[in-house]
Amino acid sequence: MENNNFITIVLAAGKGTRMKSKLPKVLHKVGGKPMVNRVLEAASLAGSEKNIVILGFGKEMVEKVLPENTVTVLQKEQLGTGHAVLQAKDLVNPEDTVLILCGDTPLLSPEMLKHFTTAHHKNKVAASVLTTVMPNPTGYGRIVRNMNGLLQKIVEHKDANIAELTIKEVNTGIYLFNAKSLFEALEKVGNDNAQGEYYLPDVLPILHDAGQKIEAVVVDDYEETLGINSRLQLSRAEAILRERKNYELMRDGVTIIDPANTYIDSDVTIEPDCIIYPSTWIEGKTIIHSGCEIGPGCRFSDVEIGANSTISFTYAHECRIGKNVTVGPYVHLRPNTVISDNVHIGNFMEVKNSNIGEGTKLPHLSYIGDSDIGKKVNMGCGTITVNYDGKVKHRTTIADNAFVGCNSNLVAPVTVGEGAYIGAGSTITKDVPAHELAIARERQKNIPNWVDKRR
Ligand code: UD1
Ligand code: CA
Repeated sequence: MENNNFITIVLAAGKGTRMKSKLPKVLHKVGGKPMVNRVLEAASLAGSEKNIVILGFGKEMVEKVLPENTVTVLQKEQLGTGHAVLQAKDLVNPEDTVLILCGDTPLLSPEMLKHFTTAHHKNKVAASVLTTVMPNPTGYGRIVRNMNGLLQKIVEHKDANIAELTIKEVNTGIYLFNAKSLFEALEKVGNDNAQGEYYLPDVLPILHDAGQKIEAVVVDDYEETLGINSRLQLSRAEAILRERKNYELMRDGVTIIDPANTYIDSDVTIEPDCIIYPSTWIEGKTIIHSGCEIGPGCRFSDVEIGANSTISFTYAHECRIGKNVTVGPYVHLRPNTVISDNVHIGNFMEVKNSNIGEGTKLPHLSYIGDSDIGKKVNMGCGTITVNYDGKVKHRTTIADNAFVGCNSNLVAPVTVGEGAYIGAGSTITKDVPAHELAIARERQKNIPNWVDKRR
C-alpha cells in the first residue's frame, strides 16, 4: 500500500440519547443532509479508499441513506466507541492506515482531514489524534499532556477531576491508526469508568506504554470538529453551515439581502447577479440561473429556474421554470410541472403535473392540474381544470393562442383547439375545435319590473 493511503471507519451505532429522538442521531439533518452523509462525503473527498460504517441503533434506517459503496458492520450492543471500532476488525488489513470519524461531526472539511493524514504520515507514528481548543469544552474528552507537553491520556468529561475539567484542549474524536497497533491495543481496553464503556481514546496510553509513538495534532478551527449531541448543538451546526453557504454565494456574486433569514442547502447552485430576498428557503439540488430575483417568502426544493425570472411568495417543488418567467405572489408549483420561457403566473395559482407553453399567462386564482397548455394561451381568472372524476385523473389539452374566459371549468379529458375561445363562466365537457367559440352556460334572462311587482 502506498504511503498516503487510508481507509475510514465511521462510528454511527449510538442512539444519541441526548437528542431525545426516535431517529438515530446520525440521521438528523444539517444543511438539508443527514450528518453521517456529510462525514462520509468529507472522508471520500479527502481520499479515503474504503468507508466502513458501524451501525447499531436504527440500523435499517441508517443503511437506507448510505452511499452504495459503503461497507457496514453491526455493533449489536453499544458498549462504547472502542468496542464499536473492534467490530470492524475483520474488514481491515493489518497494514492499513485507518481514519476514525464519528458520525456526529458534520462540519468536517476534506482539506482538514487531508492536512491530518499528511501530518500522520510525516510523523511516522502508530497513532495520531486530532485535538482542538474549544472555548466551551463541556462534554468533550480532555487532552491531558505530561510535563514535556506530550500527550499522556484522554479523560472523558464524566471521568474528569476538577483540574482536568479546566482543560480546554479536547479530543475531536478523529484519529489515524496503524491498523495492527489499533486492534492489538483495543483488545486490552477495559470499561472501568463512569459510563462502564470501552472507550476508544484509551488505546492511546496503551500504545504509548507499549513503546509505540503517538502524536496529538492540533487544528485551529474548532468549529469544523464540533460534535452534535443535543438539539442545541444541532441548531448551532445548522447556523454555521448556513453561514458558510451564504458566504460562498455572496463571494461568487449573489446578493443576499438578509443572510440571517435566508436558508440555502449546501448542494444548491445559484449563479451570479441573482438577488435573494429574506424569508427564503432553497433546498435540495435546486439550480437558479443568473439574474433572477427570488423572494421574499419563497421555498424551493429540487427546482431549476432559468435566467432573469422573478418569483415571490412561492412554494415550488420538483419542477422546472424557464427564463424571464414571473411567478407570484402566493403560488404553489407542484411536482412534474414544466413552465416555459416568458410565462406569467400571477397570484393565488396552483399548477400540478402540467406543461405550460411559452408566453402563456395564468394571471389569477386558478387550478391547473394534469394539463398541457400551448403557447400564448390566456387562462382567465378562476379557471379550473377538473382533472379528477372521483376515481382517476384525466388530462386537459389547450392548444396555442387559445383564450379561456374567466371562471371556466374544463372537465377532463378535454381538448381546446388552436386559437379557440371559451365564454366566461362556461363548464366545458366536450372538445372545442380550433378557432371556434364555445359557450356553455345558462342564457341570461332579464325580467322587467320584477322589483316593483315583488313589493
Ligand atoms: C466522544 C469521545 C470524546 C470526544 C468526542 C468528540 C469517547 C469515549 N469519547 O465522546 O473523547 O471528545 O467524542 O465529539 O470516544 N458510538 C458507537 N457505538 C458506541 C458508542 C458510540 O457507534 O457504542 C458512536 C456514536 O453513534 C457517535 C460516536 O460514536 O457517532 C461518538 O459517540 P458519543 O456518545 O457521541 O461520544 P461523545 O460522548 O461525544
Ligand atoms: Ca459526540
